[in-house]
Amino acid sequence: MNIKKLPKVELHRHLELSVRHSTIKALAPQIGINVDDPKDFAKYFLITEPMKDLGSVLNKFLDTQKLFKTVDIIEQISYEICEDAHNEGIKVLELRYAPTFLVLGHDHISFEQAHLAIVRGIKKAEKQFNMAVGLLCIIQRISPLNIAESVTDFAIEHKDTFIGLDLADNEEGFDSKPFSSFFLRAKKAGLGITVHAGESDVPNAPRYILEAIEHLGATRIGHGVQCFRDENVIQYLIDHQIPLELCPTSNWLTGAIKDKNNHPFKSLMDKGVLTTINSDDPGIFNIDLTHEYELLMSKYGLTEKDFKYCNDIALKCSFISEEKKKAAWSV
Ligand code: ADE
Ligand code: ZN
Repeated sequence: MNIKKLPKVELHRHLELSVRHSTIKALAPQIGINVDDPKDFAKYFLITEPMKDLGSVLNKFLDTQKLFKTVDIIEQISYEICEDAHNEGIKVLELRYAPTFLVLGHDHISFEQAHLAIVRGIKKAEKQFNMAVGLLCIIQRISPLNIAESVTDFAIEHKDTFIGLDLADNEEGFDSKPFSSFFLRAKKAGLGITVHAGESDVPNAPRYILEAIEHLGATRIGHGVQCFRDENVIQYLIDHQIPLELCPTSNWLTGAIKDKNNHPFKSLMDKGVLTTINSDDPGIFNIDLTHEYELLMSKYGLTEKDFKYCNDIALKCSFISEEKKKAAWSV
């Protein structure tokens, strides 16, 4: 099986952490980082061994974030991400970004300017590569509620170019329930809802998955991998047909799953949970989606039939319009 050529759908990929490495190398001197030595490139821009926890991983994103200094750079990286995805067989791609994170420290760039630059980049790529790309807006859990509310307003005002709303960052200490009214409002306005929940290995992780569904109206869960610890939560996900956006390498690098050789992907899939395959932050994790397929095939014995099953689920559950995703899938 040629995995690169296999038609794929990806639902969970962060735009800010998917930047092409040659572009990072070209831009790094502008932020005072010299990457002539590959060790320095890795030191600032890659995570290839497990870190202490998710918080340490999220902190490491900050150097990459400094690169987004102009709208032209934002447009360029958006286009290149789609081009790279196309080159590994991805026909339907959902990209997500947090407006607050993207423009942090770049005070001359407004949410609006950044968003329009992203839309220009992905529209150009969609046309050139016959692919379907959708954008999800992220609220950072660490945001004060007034900021989270303004991000919700921004997402709703741009519902012609956003397909959904997500909540990301570290769960521990940042309850999702205070964001409930924002998510319900976005849902009512027609946006799809997916929430990072049950990602890290913390005591209440399985419960956080249920809270995202019941309080925030999530119809998909980002990660949700910790459900494997609670049979009741697994059964709930099956009964309510809630798909998981699973990201195996990410889980290992953030310490969510301690043993690289013991990810619950296959056991969840075999139990009947709707599983999809995703890369999360491929640029900084030094992977692509093909890498995740290869991992699932070599370590867990997933077959071409399993990959087709996961892609069928992802295609069905993508928030991109039926017409657009079907047109790209049938190319
Ligand atoms: N933002 C980017 N990657 C993330 C992850 N794995 N978990 C939560 N927030 C994120
Ligand atoms: Zn994520």
